[in-house]
Amino acid sequence: MAVRTIITEGDPRLRQKALRIRAVDDEVRRLARDLWDTVRAASGLGLAAPQIGVLRRIIVVSIPPDYVEEGDPGVELTLINPEIVRASGRQVGLEGCLSIPGWYGEVPRFMHVTVKALDLDGREVRVKGSGLLARVLQHEIDHLDGILFVDRIADRSTLRYIPDEEEEPAAQAAS
Ligand code: NI
Repeated sequence: MAVRTIITEGDPRLRQKALRIRAVDDEVRRLARDLWDTVRAASGLGLAAPQIGVLRRIIVVSIPPDYVEEGDPGVELTLINPEIVRASGRQVGLEGCLSIPGWYGEVPRFMHVTVKALDLDGREVRVKGSGLLARVLQHEIDHLDGILFVDRIADRSTLRYIPDEEEEPAAQAAS
């Protein structure tokens, strides 16, 4: 178990482009385990390797059961070299980031995306997501290119600070 430190805005590593992973080996699988330990410890919906200071193209998505609505099974994904290959529609919704703790803003995103990636066995997978899953996928893939959600907001003064104590879980999804 290795919960890693999540770096925050201002750290130059969050602004760099992460490198493609050439081979899905034990080192990559260890990195994936660290991402999972860290995202769970932070109760995040997702995490990208640059957020723990590792400039490699790997993300995890962790949407708990019943999060979107009652009876929803939840989503757990580990995606290597993820790429959006199809995108359509539009949604605007509240978004936060574990690397910008406490701050939330209304971010425009595609409503539907299809992502091509490798899984932990190095096999090619395609993931289709809509709504929240599409939002988290876009947010995490942005991290791999050094993009933060605040870059997608025209006016940064519209950001809201919602401290952790004010439990408003559905609105406080950070990744
Ligand atoms: Ni984030």
